[in-house]
Amino acid sequence: MSARIVAIAGVNGKLATLIVKHLLENYPEIKIHGIARSPEKVDAALRDSPNVEIFEASASNTSALRQGLKGAEAAICCYLGNNELMTEGQKTLIDACIDEKVARYIASDWSFDYRGLELGDHPTKDPMIHINAYLEEKEKSRKIKAVHVLNGSFMEVVMGPFNPFFQPKAQVYQYWGTGDEPMEMTTYSDAAVFTAEIAADPSAVGFLNTIRVLGDRKSAKQVAEAYERVYEEKLELECLGSMDDLKSKMTATFQQVPEEPYKWIAMYYLFHMCSGKLWLKPLHTSRYPGVKPRDVEAYFKSRSKESLSSLH
Ligand SMILES: NC(=O)c1ccc[n+]([C@@H]2O[C@H](COP(=O)([O-])OP(=O)(O)OC[C@H]3O[C@@H](n4cnc5c(N)ncnc54)[C@H](OP(=O)(O)O)[C@@H]3O)[C@@H](O)[C@H]2O)c1
Repeated sequence: MSARIVAIAGVNGKLATLIVKHLLENYPEIKIHGIARSPEKVDAALRDSPNVEIFEASASNTSALRQGLKGAEAAICCYLGNNELMTEGQKTLIDACIDEKVARYIASDWSFDYRGLELGDHPTKDPMIHINAYLEEKEKSRKIKAVHVLNGSFMEVVMGPFNPFFQPKAQVYQYWGTGDEPMEMTTYSDAAVFTAEIAADPSAVGFLNTIRVLGDRKSAKQVAEAYERVYEEKLELECLGSMDDLKSKMTATFQQVPEEPYKWIAMYYLFHMCSGKLWLKPLHTSRYPGVKPRDVEAYFKSRSKESLSSLH
């Protein structure tokens, strides 16, 4: 019997590296075709594994992409970049998957449920809306099956350097609204394990989410309480305004500096996470029972307080 192959584009990225590790440790029958524009950036231990083959390909080089996709039963897109990459780059990859008869395409999502957004509501989610529509079109003609993994946000991002309002060094946690708005979150590694299980499971198609399986739903005030229990140090909660104030601020900042996402992106995430409109539907509680859930408190327990300022 020939080996099963899973292809991963953007294989040197943070999430992709964790997905590869889980597949190698748990699915020795699966070979990984890792696709990277800079193969030297792939984790050396993974690159040297006999079950991993690395293919160099830019996002626009269809023939090089096809080399990496050849024989794969599923492809995972782990790109993270500008909207051109996330839309046109993914379309090129999907077309290459179809050319190579890859049965399933796992889109570069790992998001809250963006199907509740209109184009323009969240600038960096527009590509996901376009790619979902593109894949639906391709599915109608039975060319490929789409898979979308939804995890809310990554805990490392919400309680880390990406969120300028969470400031453990200054012992301050700023929020908008009442501070009681729940936010849905999953750790990078738990989302990666869930994704690896999906990649290995030919029956996993459509929108699959981590909530109740892996993640947690906690408000800013509950996050601060968990922080205090684990690190025995209080975070001073500081309200910056209402949710309407947040909406006005993020929209104005985006309009002023659309080309500087780090000035507005965290506010867009927080606004939509806290709105409650994009929550995940807990559909997959019994899927992959071997995957163990981790909540915010367990996440804090797994890290030193100092390390929260780093994504790694
Ligand atoms: N919900 C959340 O809170 C959240 C937060 C972060 C990420 N995510 C999602 O998680 C997924 C992976 O994120 P990550 O943090 O693992 O990303 P990452 O570590 O930044 O990796 C991104 C990958 O994309 C590749 N890439 C970037 N620009 C490229 C280009 N122009 N052409 C080809 N490849 C390019 C990178 O290659 P190079 O190293 O060569 O640039 C790298 O392999 C994405 O779908 C992202 O949307 C979700």
